Amino acid sequence: MKALILVGGFGTRLRPLTLSVPKPLVDFANKPMILHQIEALKDVGVTEVVLAINYQPEVMLNFLKDFESKLGIKITCSQETEPMGTAGPLALARDKLDDGSGEPFFVLNSDVISEYPFAELIEFHKSHGGEATIMVTKVDEPSKYGVVVTEEETGKVERFVEKPKVFVGNKINAGIYLLSPSVLDRIELKPTSIEKEVFPRIAADKGLFAMVLPGFWMDIGQPRDYITGLRLYLESLRKRSPARLASGAHVLGNVLVHETATIGEGCLIGPDVAVGPGCVVEAGVRLSRCTVMRGARVKKHACISGSIVGWHSTVGKWARVENMTILGEDVHVCDEVYSNGGVVLPHKEIKSSILKPEIVM
Ligand code: GDD
Ligand code: MG
Repeated sequence: MKALILVGGFGTRLRPLTLSVPKPLVDFANKPMILHQIEALKDVGVTEVVLAINYQPEVMLNFLKDFESKLGIKITCSQETEPMGTAGPLALARDKLDDGSGEPFFVLNSDVISEYPFAELIEFHKSHGGEATIMVTKVDEPSKYGVVVTEEETGKVERFVEKPKVFVGNKINAGIYLLSPSVLDRIELKPTSIEKEVFPRIAADKGLFAMVLPGFWMDIGQPRDYITGLRLYLESLRKRSPARLASGAHVLGNVLVHETATIGEGCLIGPDVAVGPGCVVEAGVRLSRCTVMRGARVKKHACISGSIVGWHSTVGKWARVENMTILGEDVHVCDEVYSNGGVVLPHKEIKSSILKPEIVM
C-alpha cells in the first residue's frame, strides 16, 4: 500500500520552532512528528510514503534518508512549484499513488497526532465499498476544522463543510483518509482544496464515508494544542505501553525521558513532560506540562511549566519559564530570568525578564 503525507505550508503557527525545521520535523514526544506517522503506516503494510512538499525538500529528505533503511520503507518526495493545496498534490503524485492494483491509499495531514488506527480504517473502507473514507473525531470548537455530518448507522457523509461560520455539528475531519484510486479522476492538476472541492462532491455522489476515530486526536500545529496533544499522547501511552514512561520518586504523572537524557538529584518532573535525547536536567529542577527538546540544558533549580524549550537551548539557574513560553533553537535564558509567555526566536540570549506574552526577535 501507498501513503501520501501533506507536508506543505510554512507552519507559521508553530514558529519559532518552524524557523529551524519544516513543521513535520518538529519533535513531538521526543521524535519528529512525521516519524510517528511513518512508523504507524509501516505497521499496517505501507511500502512507500510520498511526501507532498512545497518547500525545503532537501531538508526533509536528508533527514528521512536514515529512516528509510532503518524502517525498511521507501520515502519519496513530490515537489510542487506552487502550493497545490490539499488535493492538487494528489494529482501531481498520481503515478506513484495509483499503481494499477486498485488498492486504496492513505492521505494524512502532517500535523495530526493520534493512535493512528489504520488497520480499523482499512477494514471499514472495505466494508462500505464507497470511494473514500475519512476519520472523524468530536471536538469542542468545530469551527476551526472541517465539519462532517453523517448518517448515524452507516457513516455515510451527508455534508462536509470546511471551517463553518455557523454550527453544523461537532464531528470534524481528523485529516486521515483512505481513498480509492478513482478519487484521483476527480482531481485536476491545479491548486485545489480536498476539503472544499473534492469531499463535498464525493459526498453528493454518496461515496464518502466517515469512521469515528477511536482514541485521542489532536492537530498539534499550534503551541497550545501541541502541549494538550502531549498530555493526550502520554495518557494513551500509559494505557498501551506504560513501561516506556519514566518512573521513580522524582516523577509525577505521565513523563517521557529519553534514555540519553540525564536528570539530576532532587528534581520533580511531571505531569505531561517530554525530555528529549541528550538533554541535561540539573539538580532541583521542576518541570511540568512541557517539552524539552534534544540537546537542551536546564540548570539547577529552574522551573518550567506549560512551555516548549527548543533544541540545544539552555535555561539558567533559578530561571522561571512558563505560560506558553516557546524558546526557539539555541536560545539562552540567563540565570534568574522570568519568562511569562515569551516567544523567542532562535539563537537569542535572554538577559532580562519577559513579563507579558510577547515575541522576542
Ligand atoms: N503539499 C502541500 N501543499 N501541503 C499543503 C498545502 C499545499 O499547498 N497546504 C496545506 N498543506 C498541508 C499542511 O502542511 C497540513 O499537513 C495539511 O495540508 C492541512 O493543512 P493545515 O493548514 O494544517 O489545515 P488546517 O489545520 O487549517 O485544516 C485541515 O486539518 C483539519 C484537521 O486538523 C483540514 O483538513 C480540516 O478539514 C481538518 O479538520
Ligand atoms: Mg492543521
